[in-house]
This record gives sequence, structure tokens and C-alpha cells, in this order.
Amino acid sequence: MTVENDEQLEKLRAIGRIVANVLRDMQKAAEPGMTTAELDAIGAKLLEEQGARSAPQLTYDFPGATCISVNEEAAHGIPGERVLQPGDLVNIDVSAEKDGYFADTGGSFIIPPASLPKERICRATRDALEAAMREARAGQPMNRIGKAIEQLAKQRGYRVIRNLCSHGVGGGLHEYPEEIYGYYEPRDRRVLTEGLVITIEPFLSDRNRYVEDTGDGWTLAGKPGSINAQYEHTMVITRGAPIILTQPG
Ligand code: CO
Ligand code: CO
Repeated sequence: MTVENDEQLEKLRAIGRIVANVLRDMQKAAEPGMTTAELDAIGAKLLEEQGARSAPQLTYDFPGATCISVNEEAAHGIPGERVLQPGDLVNIDVSAEKDGYFADTGGSFIIPPASLPKERICRATRDALEAAMREARAGQPMNRIGKAIEQLAKQRGYRVIRNLCSHGVGGGLHEYPEEIYGYYEPRDRRVLTEGLVITIEPFLSDRNRYVEDTGDGWTLAGKPGSINAQYEHTMVITRGAPIILTQPG
């Protein structure tokens, strides 16, 4: 969607804060021995307390409130019987709706003890998000986002997962301008416009250029033993720095 007035911005800020707080609280609650279903139940309860509805559940009938993906899994992991282990690299993605407005956030973290490769990929992916946000300005080509992500990934020796994209959001979970590539696509002539609400969510991997359905209809995973990380914010495009909606508070 494109923000046209303060009321819309306030409602987006409200749902943005909710998903950011839920992500933060779920990360804090995660511990070894817990199943991903137990962790998801914490998120489901927090969303409900805030009067928010899980966006993937609402939009796609996803079998969980949040997506939880571990190690070789990159995205859309179904919460279930998988038990969190010390050293796991976990990604939680929280998106939700309230009063007709949607926000989407995500982040990777490590269940201690953290190994150096897992710490490094998390840092690189966070830096990729920041680099992409510096290019996200009204009037600029949309493909600068992917260019910045790809450049940062290459510098650090990682691959961009090409079949997971950033996207428009706000009036729905996935909307205009639909997919925003995580790599440089010179044929993409689209331009960012003032007030446009989008996510930026780089997915970096040590070995995967593509991730595939594991057979459950949802979970996208890479090669066995590979690692993947993602960080995601929902933001409003302006002529200056984007307004980040998914900040805890
Ligand atoms: Co997300
Ligand atoms: Co998203």
C-alpha cells in the first residue's frame, strides 16, 4: 500500500510495534529442549493478547502463528516437534494484521553456544539489510535494493537465496509491488515511490542459491548442513531514510 495520511501511518506503526515485540519476546523465550511448536504457542498467545491475527494463517491458512526455520531451513518453517538444540541457528518470522493493516518482521539468532560461522552469517545479513535500507529512497530504482544486498553478500563470501524476496505489504501480507529481488536485476525498471510500504528481507546462505520445499508444502530448505540467515523490517519509503515500522517499543 501507499500511505496517504497520518491515520494510516499510526495503524501501521501499531501493528509494526506488535510484531516487533512478539519477535523480541519469542527470541528471549527460545531455549534448548523446547519444540518449535512450543515457541510458536508463545507467539500465538502474545499476538492474541494484542488483538492481532497471524498474517500467514489469515492469508494462506499456514499451519502455525509464526514461521520458525532452523539451520538448513531458510523460511516458512512449520512449527512442530523439532526440538531446539544448543548451537542451532533459528529464524523466526512474525507477520500479523490488526484493524486491516499488516506488518512483517523476522530475524535469525543462535541458541548458545554460538559458533563463529553462524555469528558471521548473522552479522553479514544484518549489514545487508542496513545497506539495502540506505538505497531505499523515493525516486530511486527498486533494483538498488537487490544490488546492495548482493554486493554485501559477495564481499563477505555468501550467496543470496534467489527465490526468497522482499515485497509490498501494509494492506495485505504480500501486495504491490509484489516481489523485490534480493539480487541485482538490471531489467527491473520499477521505481520506489513516496509512501510505499515494503519489507526488505535479505536471505543469505553459505551454500544455497535456491531453497526447496521439503515436502510439507511450506518449509523451504537448502543443502544438508548449510546455514541461512534473514532479517526483515517493514518500512515506509520517503525521500530520506525509510520510516521503520517494525521496531519494538
Ligand atoms: Co516475514
Ligand atoms: Co516478508
